[in-house]
Amino acid sequence: MPKSVHPQKIQLMIPGPSEPEPEVVAALMMPVMAHYGQAWSQVYHESLEKLQRVFKTKNEVILLPSPGQTAVEMAVSSLIKRGDEAFVCSNGFFSDMICEMLSYYGVKPRLIKAEKGKPIRAENVRASVQAVRKKSKNYPKCLFLVHNETSTGLTNPAPEIMKVCREEGLISILDSISGFGGIDVRADEWHVDYCVGYASKAIGGIFGVTPVSISNNAWKLAKKIDSKQGRFLNLNVWRHYIDEWASIGHPHPSTMPTNVIIALSKALDLIFDEGLERRYKRHADTARFIEDGLERLGLPLFPEKSFASNTVTAAQTDPKLNPRLRRLLLEKYGIMISDGLGDLSGKIVRIGHMGASATIPAVSTTLAAIGEIVRS
Ligand SMILES: Cc1ncc(COP(=O)(O)O)c(C=O)c1O
Repeated sequence: MPKSVHPQKIQLMIPGPSEPEPEVVAALMMPVMAHYGQAWSQVYHESLEKLQRVFKTKNEVILLPSPGQTAVEMAVSSLIKRGDEAFVCSNGFFSDMICEMLSYYGVKPRLIKAEKGKPIRAENVRASVQAVRKKSKNYPKCLFLVHNETSTGLTNPAPEIMKVCREEGLISILDSISGFGGIDVRADEWHVDYCVGYASKAIGGIFGVTPVSISNNAWKLAKKIDSKQGRFLNLNVWRHYIDEWASIGHPHPSTMPTNVIIALSKALDLIFDEGLERRYKRHADTARFIEDGLERLGLPLFPEKSFASNTVTAAQTDPKLNPRLRRLLLEKYGIMISDGLGDLSGKIVRIGHMGASATIPAVSTTLAAIGEIVRS
């Protein structure tokens, strides 16, 4: 019998993966299903319909069997030509990641910047877009925004920024990875062309597939660009399989982690049982509760308060306390939280409250343990 990799049960209070509900784990353990055929096609399409309800869209949804960043990379690969430029709203580690992706594809980012912990303002987006337009004819056609910046615990004002995209005729790409299922997203109302969700954060599924909703305009742009930069992350390849292989119940270009999708579908059922809007309120209430608790313990909020995320709270820490706090929480209390990323390492801690962990009891236990360590 191999030794367990979990010496003790750890309470995950990190910004993903989140702890799935037992029903989701049970669904994962069902006998393995083939990734083609009529039975599979039905499961797959039902899952996509459920995801459309979370994206609040009538647009086509696909499930990419890979990590979240590959779904963002698929937009880079399919919607922008090498040598062109793209707007990137930049205020954290995950928008830096988008810039890095663009550089691998020979695309120059046009940054619309805000300090870490401060939101991107729609009026700055409009001013930057119009200024670039005035100067060059070959201006960028796409804009990337990280909805919920997991690295700083900040939610950018996506509706206002998406409105600017619509009015300026830009294709909008929204990374909603760490908000999806915990923070409202409205792909149709906001006119998001390409919206990336996630399975194993606030949705409460299992890691292994990434949902993406794609507008007709984005599909049209992909066709026009006709990218030859690879196969799997090429929207035109996906289009081909969606159209040509639907009849054999295989509307995707690769094998699928069928059980992960069945588990995701179960997680979505649980969400609809709870009610989407109630779930968003639960996440918001939990966030405000932990923010207050941390501030009372002398750990001030890192992001601007009115933009603080409902799924991940980032609090400032003394650099000496930071590693001790995380170590003792894990060793003594079995609670895992996260450090800051990049230049915020040692300066902030990040606490995820997503899906099943977005409850007052779960964050109270974490707060009580932090309190004891801070006072000791
Ligand atoms: C906002 C955001 N974007 C992108 C990613 C990358 O996701 P993955 O590690 O699954 O590629 C993450 C991961 O936490 C994230 O929070």
